[in-house]
Amino acid sequence: MTPLQPRHLINWQDWSDNEIQRLVLLAQEIKENPNDFSDKLAQKTLVMIFQKTSTRTRVSFEVAMTEMGGHAIFLDWNSSNFALTEISFESAYLSRNSQILMARMMKHEDLLKLRQGSRVPVINGCCDRYHPCQALADMLTIYQDRGKLEGAKLTYLGVHNNVVNSLVSLCASLKVQLTLVCPLARPGAVDEKAMTRLKTKNLLTQTLDAKAAVADADYVYTDTWIDMEFFNDPDKQTMKEERIALMRPYQINAELLAHSRAKVMHDMPIHPGFEISHEMVEDPRSILYTQAENRLYAQKAILLNLLRAI
Ligand code: CP
Repeated sequence: MTPLQPRHLINWQDWSDNEIQRLVLLAQEIKENPNDFSDKLAQKTLVMIFQKTSTRTRVSFEVAMTEMGGHAIFLDWNSSNFALTEISFESAYLSRNSQILMARMMKHEDLLKLRQGSRVPVINGCCDRYHPCQALADMLTIYQDRGKLEGAKLTYLGVHNNVVNSLVSLCASLKVQLTLVCPLARPGAVDEKAMTRLKTKNLLTQTLDAKAAVADADYVYTDTWIDMEFFNDPDKQTMKEERIALMRPYQINAELLAHSRAKVMHDMPIHPGFEISHEMVEDPRSILYTQAENRLYAQKAILLNLLRAI
């Protein structure tokens, strides 16, 4: 008998709207009734491969496996043998000793190589092009906050990056109105196909008028202006200073939100004084810690789905 082809989560475009809606509801159910899922992944092992640093992605996936009766192994790129050989050879091996892989890779192409070698599901734990797990937790957070996703007004201010590409896909699937205030994007960074889909559904607004964009928003969202791996790199200081000067008017702060009822979101890690003022992190309108906490329930839903454990 031919073995079942594994399902992967590389980006949301491979998933139907219906599947995504059900995933949000499942994540909510898991959050409300965690004990109902406590043995669903018994005897299952997740291998997590990190080429880049992480706090939330690593912790939430590891805790998710523990809380559902399974086990997670952390593999740091530099202390594993990934760098010594072809990526697909290493993932081919890993997929024979574990049931599911999650990888945080610098380059999307390398994530695809990892998937190519694997006979088990592969989850994108953030690459230069997409951050699908983050975007699912973001949608779960909005769903919990207002009881439904359709019609929610989300404004993102910042660099058009991997998180934005994933938000664009999910907003299209979940009928969330997205306003993008993105004065900057790396060449080739924008997922044009996902943008076209959102535009076709009349769910996308693009503007550089930050005040107008937040005035009617339910949620405002920002992310780092500098790629995480470059934030403290002395060779990138000139680029960092130029970028800060360009992005400064788009900071989420009390002045920008003076006439807005929007709640504040950020995927973390936070760079206070840059993309968000320190005061807004702890402001009563901030829901960013709930957003970060929700990574756990989103990861659980993804794991259960890909492992066909529900
Ligand atoms: N938002 C996010 O992915 O956090 P980490 O980089 O800490 O995993």
